[in-house]
Amino acid sequence: MGLQDLLKEIQILAVVCNQYGDTGKGKFSDFFASQWADIIARGTGGNNAGHTVIIGDKQRVFHLIPAGITYDKEGKTNILGNGMVIDPFVLIKEMNTLYEEGVSFNHLLISDRANVVMFYHVEQDKAENASQKGGGIGSTGRGIGPAYTDKVARRGIMMRDLLHMDILVEKIEKLKKYYPQQQINIDKIIADISPVADRLKPFITDTVDFLHDSIKNGKRICLEGAQGLYLSLEHGIYRYVTSSDCSTNGTASGVGISAKAIDLTLGVVKFPFMTKVGGGPFVTELGGIRSENYCSQEFGNRKDDEKNIYGGRLNEMMNSSDDFEKGIALRMIAGEYGATTARPRRIGWTDAVAAKYAVRVNGPMKLILTKADALENNDFNICYNYIMSDGSSTQKFVNDSEVLRKVIPEYKIYKGYSDIRGETQFEKLPSSLTQSIIDFEKFVGAEVSIVSTGPEMIQTALR
Ligand code: IMO
Ligand code: MG
Repeated sequence: MGLQDLLKEIQILAVVCNQYGDTGKGKFSDFFASQWADIIARGTGGNNAGHTVIIGDKQRVFHLIPAGITYDKEGKTNILGNGMVIDPFVLIKEMNTLYEEGVSFNHLLISDRANVVMFYHVEQDKAENASQKGGGIGSTGRGIGPAYTDKVARRGIMMRDLLHMDILVEKIEKLKKYYPQQQINIDKIIADISPVADRLKPFITDTVDFLHDSIKNGKRICLEGAQGLYLSLEHGIYRYVTSSDCSTNGTASGVGISAKAIDLTLGVVKFPFMTKVGGGPFVTELGGIRSENYCSQEFGNRKDDEKNIYGGRLNEMMNSSDDFEKGIALRMIAGEYGATTARPRRIGWTDAVAAKYAVRVNGPMKLILTKADALENNDFNICYNYIMSDGSSTQKFVNDSEVLRKVIPEYKIYKGYSDIRGETQFEKLPSSLTQSIIDFEKFVGAEVSIVSTGPEMIQTALR
């Protein structure tokens, strides 16, 4: 099947993550922006996101701006939606970097109602949430939680307030008392933020109005999800979540449309292994608590460290009976280090029980599988059953972080395959992989439409 078949009669498409984030939304946002969409819109989160796009030997990581911005010159519109929290300084930095690389911003739009991440949010987040020690969340330290806290408490600063310094002063004056630990000097804030506000002014508008007019005019929309379902404030594994609802519903709401208006949701799933950054339960983690503790250490450049220490033993480690070692090897081979924080991503086998839950909440949907190309002849596991602490077993996800911590995963084991890098035909994928895909889609209740066979856009097999 070609892209035309998949997108026949589709006007609004959503690409969301069905796991813990970092599944390859960036690649597919870029994919659909280049080949199909007129408008690419983000609705949740802020620069906690890191969406990586690889074009040739060039890598771009987008944190706030949708990956579709590289097609601005072709007249495509990119939107930062009302549900986002935006650090204006980070946004300007991201724009500057892209500008130097030849990207234009003729059609960029920023919701006037998106909330602003201020420096005191960042400082508070770093102080309270960034650590994973003692059961900490291990946030990205970008001020996301505190900014959404202000929004929910109805004292948040909106992008539109940056256009009216008198309102901004008044608001900061009122919220100062909630940040007793931070040095809030209003004159300094105004002096710092004024030039940034001037620069962003041309982009700030009512994006909801624009989006609805565009839909009426037949434009094709791609919603670029951020984070992933298990990180959703509403549906994720609370309290190890981010502070926005990054489900399909939240993503739609974050741009001002109903999820019902979405014609096709594509849920991205890493398969047959998955990853997580930050604290919280991860049932199928290779090496379990040992891996969790190891990945939560807060020093050094782990990518380089691991290369130095384990670089020569990768093959041996991939076939090791010690899952902790296997996890390290898989992380290294697949390059699983945070695009935002450079933290080592925790590695585990794909959890079909949890994926089924994600399909239920985020669906109806079709699936995109990513990262299957990282394995080379290694047998792999997919989790289809949870053994509970009382010895009973269930194939139903239990959304309770304390319970999940004690679950023992039961796997279906598959034979390894090799050489799928760059394969563009689904039918040509090795039988062990396709069999595992058929089992998976039957269990989770969603069809797999796309298998990514490498980081580049062309390395994609459409079914
Ligand atoms: P993309 O869009 C993976 C995680 C953090 C932490 C938790 C809360 O690249 O998939 P926060 O800073 O949001 O308060 O952190 O959520 N997290 C992500 N993990 N991918 C992301 O985004 C994430 N955004 C937040 O690691 O565990
Ligand atoms: Mg990411």
